[in-house]
Amino acid sequence: MSDNDFILKAEGIHKSYRMGATRVTVLKGVDLAVKKGEFVAIVGASGSGKSTLLHILGALDKPDKGLVKFEGRDLSRHSSGELNRFRNKMVGFVFQFYHLLDELSVLENVFLPVMAGKSIVGWFGSRRWAKNRAKELLEQFGLSQRTKHKPYQLSGGERQRVAIGRALMNEPRLLLADEPTGNLDSATGNGILEVLEKLNSLGQTIVMVTHDERIAQRAGRIVTLVDGKIEHKSCKDL
Ligand SMILES: Nc1ncnc2c1ncn2[C@@H]1O[C@H](COP(=O)(O)OP(=O)(O)OP(=O)(O)O)[C@@H](O)[C@H]1O
Ligand SMILES: [Mg+2]
Repeated sequence: MSDNDFILKAEGIHKSYRMGATRVTVLKGVDLAVKKGEFVAIVGASGSGKSTLLHILGALDKPDKGLVKFEGRDLSRHSSGELNRFRNKMVGFVFQFYHLLDELSVLENVFLPVMAGKSIVGWFGSRRWAKNRAKELLEQFGLSQRTKHKPYQLSGGERQRVAIGRALMNEPRLLLADEPTGNLDSATGNGILEVLEKLNSLGQTIVMVTHDERIAQRAGRIVTLVDGKIEHKSCKDL
């Protein structure tokens, strides 16, 4: 298979953190390739480096060694402007604790990534489109009646659906989710997984991190992070 068959390819990723005089080595040569349209779950014990890896895959952090290729292009060769564009447009992030802005309405939270990626003039040109798209996403996730609420007025499951809407606002090629159900009870978490499965069935490529094997089973493929490396474990589809 050539690099072009993969949307994302991580090769030999190493990452360590310095803590005072000691150095904690977290990733020791992670290789991971994700095909377009896949739903991959990364599992591993707490502290095994799942979030660290996801941040590197989404260019929120840099590896010490190794490379991440997105659609065949090495991210380390991107200029800082290109990296900002990559983070804003190519990937969408969903986090365990939602990271919504309580000062803004639900609708504003969802269209924020469009505002953030544009000049004032650019924003005025696209705000009608952006508001309509945000409304459509919220409707798709059963939140049409919540557009004017503030995030703190919502339940955990509703907040996470808003966060997924925000992540999808710029139609990213890749959705990265870090413990998206980690703060939710199992029934509500199940609803979030249903949203992710539906998106994946419509073609959305997803990489999700979870410490919960049952949640991971909902993905098409599970990979496990052990001792700083990926151990390929089971495949539902293969
Ligand atoms: N900025 C940092 N500075 C120092 N050490 C860090 C930093 N970020 C992570 N670590 C350490 O790296 C290791 C991996 O952390 P990471 O958050 O990636 O684990 P995780 O698998 O996501 O765990 P969890 O399931 O608890 O979220 C941990 O030992 C953590 O203490
Ligand atoms: Mg984590």
